[in-house]
Amino acid sequence: MRIRQVGASERADVVFPLTAYAFEPTREFGELREKYRRRMRYFEHVTTLVGEEEGVGARACVAAFPMRENVRGRVVDMAGVASVASHPESRRRGYVRELLWRLLEQMRDQGAVVSTLYPFRPSFYARFGFVGMPRRRRVGFAPEGLPRVELPGTVELRTNAEGFADYLTVLERVCERTHGFALFDELRTAEFGEAEVWLAVARGDDGEVLGALPYEITNFGDELDGRHLLATGPLGRALLLQFLARHVDQVRRCSVWVGPDAVPELWGTDLEVTLEGLVDFPTHGGPMARVLDMRGLDGMGAGDGDVTVEVVDDPFVAGVHRLVGEGGRLSVTTGGAPRARLSVAGLSALVYGVLDPVEVMTRGLGQIEYTAVDALRALFPRELPYLFADF
Ligand SMILES: CC(C)(COP(=O)(O)OP(=O)(O)OC[C@H]1O[C@@H](n2cnc3c(N)ncnc32)[C@H](O)[C@@H]1OP(=O)(O)O)[C@@H](O)C(=O)NCCC(=O)NCCS
Repeated sequence: MRIRQVGASERADVVFPLTAYAFEPTREFGELREKYRRRMRYFEHVTTLVGEEEGVGARACVAAFPMRENVRGRVVDMAGVASVASHPESRRRGYVRELLWRLLEQMRDQGAVVSTLYPFRPSFYARFGFVGMPRRRRVGFAPEGLPRVELPGTVELRTNAEGFADYLTVLERVCERTHGFALFDELRTAEFGEAEVWLAVARGDDGEVLGALPYEITNFGDELDGRHLLATGPLGRALLLQFLARHVDQVRRCSVWVGPDAVPELWGTDLEVTLEGLVDFPTHGGPMARVLDMRGLDGMGAGDGDVTVEVVDDPFVAGVHRLVGEGGRLSVTTGGAPRARLSVAGLSALVYGVLDPVEVMTRGLGQIEYTAVDALRALFPRELPYLFADF
């Protein structure tokens, strides 16, 4: 297999046949290719690698979006891995393994500190050092149960095209404040401006944008089908919920996506609500993440503590690292006497706040000296990441 990097203009001819075979219904193949070709102007910054065989061409592909992600308060460069597929005649030959390692290395060299993806099967990506993160939840409720209180702010109804600049402002502000929240670059994000959806934009009395909700109405008397309910804080969320309450005679039910730590049963007093989190494979995997560059973690949020860990079996972050948390910030240096031996998945689970040090051990992701368990827990307190971006 020969590895070659291809640009966006080649993707419709080289990558599409592999990914469409893997992910799309057979009967839509023809019409999807033309749609795909038109979309490729938004993919100019994507790094795409293909593995080619002599005589038959591309047999496997992988790609990474250049993204940014908030990791414990610091927004760092992230590689969002997607378009992973191989031709069925060429599967189980290690092509994707070779491509994925190469892609991660290239993205690390270009500055990516972490990488995330949505797995078809987590055990496949666990081999590459990724660890599971929580999946977004779907909240459903009838609009009549929502509270009616006079709030200092307003909600404007816009088309997506009209309100897209405000939506981008909300995305940026939520990303600055939300651990795990990830955004595509400007070029790829622009594609979402084409979606034919309504946009509710919440503003404080001072005009500041506090939240946004893109949504569709499926039919009169039916459902208000929301995307992510995005708010910079509780006021933005309350304003958006009040706006939904005004649809009481129009729709039977509202539903929105929320992050993993949302508690919608506390949004109102008599609010009947469903909170669903579905994880199954291959279509609804919870996201996964891994650290690609230890130095890039310097300066992210951390509790107080001083622990040296050894990361083993990884081409990017293996080695002995001293992790010191002081004044709310982490500093990373090399060397020292390790008190924990971690796989990169174990380290990533601590950094992302998804596993307790004891769970790192019970999941087989590392061994930690008894005295270092509390220290690591203090350094990396549990904090549920909300990835948001879907790719
Ligand atoms: C998933 C897929 C990309 C794997 O491609 P492949 O070319 O067969 O993968 P490789 O041969 O490089 O396998 C890499 C490693 O993963 C293992 N592996 C392969 N399929 C696996 C699976 N379903 N579950 C767990 N491990 C798996 C291989 O045994 C190999 O292990 P090794 O490194 O110890 O030798 C391919 O089957 C495919 O295109 N599937 C349909 C599309 C899809 O699901 N893509 C992923 C979207 S997230």
